[in-house]
Amino acid sequence: CGIVGYIGQNDTKEILLTGLEKLEYRGYDSAGIATINDNGVHVTKVKGRIATLREDVDATVDSTMGIGHTRWATHGVPSVMNAHPHQSASERFTIVHNGVIENYIDIKNEYLTDVSFVSETDTEVIVQLIEKLHEKHQDTKKAFSEAMSLLKGSYAIGLIDAEDNETLYVSKNKSPLLVGLGEGFNLVASDAMATLKETDQYLEIFDKEIVLVSRNYVEVQTLDGQVVERKPFTAEIDASDTEKGTYPHFMLKEIDEQPIVMRKIIQEYQDDNGQLKLDQDIRTAMKDADRIYIIAAGTSYHAGLVGKEFIEKLANIPVEVHVASEFSYNMPLLSEKPLFVFISQSGETADSRAVLVKIKELGHPALTLTNVPGSTLSREANYTMHLHAGPEIAVASTKAYTAQIAVLAILAVDTARVKGLELDFDPLQELAIVANAMEVLTDQKEELEQLARDYFGTTRNAFFIGRSTDYHVAQEAALKLKEISYIQAEGFAGGELKHGTIALIEEGTPVIALTTQENVNYSIRGNVQEVVARGANAMVVSMKGLEQDEDAFVIPHVHELLTPLASVIPMQLLAYYAALHRDCDVDKPRNLAKSVTVE
Ligand code: G6P
Repeated sequence: CGIVGYIGQNDTKEILLTGLEKLEYRGYDSAGIATINDNGVHVTKVKGRIATLREDVDATVDSTMGIGHTRWATHGVPSVMNAHPHQSASERFTIVHNGVIENYIDIKNEYLTDVSFVSETDTEVIVQLIEKLHEKHQDTKKAFSEAMSLLKGSYAIGLIDAEDNETLYVSKNKSPLLVGLGEGFNLVASDAMATLKETDQYLEIFDKEIVLVSRNYVEVQTLDGQVVERKPFTAEIDASDTEKGTYPHFMLKEIDEQPIVMRKIIQEYQDDNGQLKLDQDIRTAMKDADRIYIIAAGTSYHAGLVGKEFIEKLANIPVEVHVASEFSYNMPLLSEKPLFVFISQSGETADSRAVLVKIKELGHPALTLTNVPGSTLSREANYTMHLHAGPEIAVASTKAYTAQIAVLAILAVDTARVKGLELDFDPLQELAIVANAMEVLTDQKEELEQLARDYFGTTRNAFFIGRSTDYHVAQEAALKLKEISYIQAEGFAGGELKHGTIALIEEGTPVIALTTQENVNYSIRGNVQEVVARGANAMVVSMKGLEQDEDAFVIPHVHELLTPLASVIPMQLLAYYAALHRDCDVDKPRNLAKSVTVE
């Protein structure tokens, strides 16, 4: 979700609507704005996009303050009722919120048993709580601060009080939020991109701070009322850079964007009836193929390994996965009706393109999965599927990997359906669950930062182990760590350790074991015992339901086919923090490039 707020003399409605249009990439199933003038607060909400909201907003209502929101549903279906802004029972307080409140049921039970709710959202709990606390304090700032101190979870919040059209109340925890500064006006937005037209001066807000935004001043305070001095920064107008917002690195931003990307993919590959939406030509090509050859490099190759499982298990077509740079040397005996599937974030990788050129000469069809639809691999292949991950700037790929896996799952299920196969797996529903799990995982940065310190602080090397699907993620986890922290890291199949690699285990060697599959949970834990017996510093990352007391980190439960989408997130964050602590250039690691256009 995205939020925007404005206070000043200019056209409030227009600034809010334009800002929301820029934030639509964060979700667009419903939207709303609230503006205030001498006649009170005026709320407009719609199910659908900002364009619909624009049509519905009453152009005759003038205002000098307002808040807006564009939503991607988490708690409660997309509807006008669940759309933001939300109001308290007396309609004195109006709020927009981005994030997930984990303890909203507890708050409801403890403070709000006498309140009747009109929506199904966690957000309404916040605004009702503020009203309840206002009854006690008779002071909006006190009520707002106390409410913020009671919330657990992630939030970026804008609040207006109908009795005070001079102040916008703002706070955040974990979710992004910036204050934009202007002459005679001030702004609030989830992302600087939303308000760049108005200003390039921004104030960063840290977690659990309260900000009082008026037309001519902005005051940042701690939750207990201490005023904080902070200098503004100038947002770089360079489009590729401004997208970083307040994030210290693109990589961290891109890790955090993964839930949004999952939801975007769900949206893009779904028709109006909630059915999968794919090009008819791709359907025919998949149906006609007697064997799929996946060709890719680096992280995209690792996504291909997961994709093979989907296509074989769900669509019943044999799949081979090849590293592009090796394919041409020992080209396998091709089947009668092969379909080549190229997976490439950039669509420009020369190794992959070399294979594409070769197989085209042989007259075989090709489908490219890419994040850049106009790219070479997209233009030169017969068909393209778009990853919809948004620009990926950090060299170490994160959101493109999970987007590739999600799109491969959709492709596999669609093919199965076209072939008339019975499936007990709804990819759109399961990906929505994944998106929520990713949100929980990206909120656990503190724990993962500590684990990165404990396990990778001074080590020279590290091993990631897994069996079955977890083995693919172990390989990707090792690649992430080595790319950006320069720690020598390898991903191994748990059962293969004893055939050689275990010789490398010394006192304190970090071994990270992944276990998300019930059928290998027992055996991978056996491998952990083997390395611990030889002095390893072992860490088990398990999935809810398979966990044991000693596990270092537990990921939320997701469908067993889609576990890489969840288990890779802590691996990405471990790599990120390991690199950060070693003072490495996270976004631009040495010797690497984002898009490798030489063979
Ligand atoms: C480079 C990047 C990797 C990426 C690989 C394949 O090596 O550093 O992050 O996985 O290329 O790139 P592609 O754009 O084809 O997915």
